[in-house]
Amino acid sequence: MVVTFLVFLLSLGGCTENKTDDIKKPEQARSLKRAFADDFYVGAAINARLISEEDSLALQLLRKEFNSISPENDMKWENIHPAPDSFYFDIADRYAALAEDNNMFALGHTLVWHSQLADYMNTVSDTATMNVYLENHISTIVQRYKGKIDAWDVVNEALNEDGTLRESVFFKVLGEKYIAKAFKLAAQSDSDAKLLYNDYNLCVPEKRGGAVRLVKTLQNEGIKIDGVGMQGHWGLKEPSLAEIENSILAYSDLGVKVSITELDITVLPNPWDLEGAEVGQNFENEDRMNPYPDVLPDSVQLQLAQRYHDIFQLFVKHSDKIDRVTFWGINDGNSWLNNWPIRGRTNYPLLFDRKFHPKEAYDSILSLISEN
Ligand code: XIL
Repeated sequence: MVVTFLVFLLSLGGCTENKTDDIKKPEQARSLKRAFADDFYVGAAINARLISEEDSLALQLLRKEFNSISPENDMKWENIHPAPDSFYFDIADRYAALAEDNNMFALGHTLVWHSQLADYMNTVSDTATMNVYLENHISTIVQRYKGKIDAWDVVNEALNEDGTLRESVFFKVLGEKYIAKAFKLAAQSDSDAKLLYNDYNLCVPEKRGGAVRLVKTLQNEGIKIDGVGMQGHWGLKEPSLAEIENSILAYSDLGVKVSITELDITVLPNPWDLEGAEVGQNFENEDRMNPYPDVLPDSVQLQLAQRYHDIFQLFVKHSDKIDRVTFWGINDGNSWLNNWPIRGRTNYPLLFDRKFHPKEAYDSILSLISEN
């Protein structure tokens, strides 16, 4: 025993400089989830190919870098509940299993949303039918994944830009109480799951006001809400760091946690100064709207790296208020921003390039940890 220990000590003493370096910072140990382990979960949205383990490179990267996942499309109403009496759980089940097998925090996205809704829902016009459909949808899904899905985007994008409530089919039929109803049903189905309100442009003051009112209304009615998800479909300049910070503080002051739920930073021109992430909007492609079809110029690459550096610096500063920072995709090639709001462009919004290699933005984020 003593001899073995001595041999071990001697072997340490005999370490070459290289070996010591290896122990301190082996290349494979560099990862987002490790770097921010004391701050927040670092997540990625994953698509059906990845969930089905058909994209082995993406899966490898996911396991190395991330400790939280979001289903990019496979738990949305049109996919998981395509007809009133039929649910399609195959991919969602595999998603939950993937999270469990890899010990990852799993988000359920999303229970109530006006987009990617099953067709039959858009024609509902009476209260009784809407109540039955909503109850069946939320209870069936949340109960099935009880203990497996850690947090739900219970309601997604219920607000207009001016902070009023969007005239979705849920609102038209049930009025504003559909939101409280959805949160209540989710809490009854799994009392341990974290329940979130999720939206884009939640840094814009008017819309932020609406989100604050929404959270307060639920709280005043004694309804459980644990967090606000700021989607984070942002640009190189907008929103300003000040508005991001003001928003983190405004939500956190309500006693709920903040998550950055769908982070990506577009480097492409914005058609007609469109703001936000309304997925129903689409525009024609043309060359001037797709300036980097082959490669991203260095100057823009550096701007992107600086922007990621600055926003992560802010996230780390407020890590006591932030539960999770999730990127909307794994690499530039599979980002939805190649097809939204204009189809067929080449965008570069994430930390990994089309070959899964880390970009300058990745290094700029990790450098924060050594800076601190
Ligand atoms: C996007 C997906 O990434 C696309 O694949 C799909 O075609 C449209 O929806 N806000 C959300 C996400 O809450 O669900 C959206 O995801 C992006 C905007």
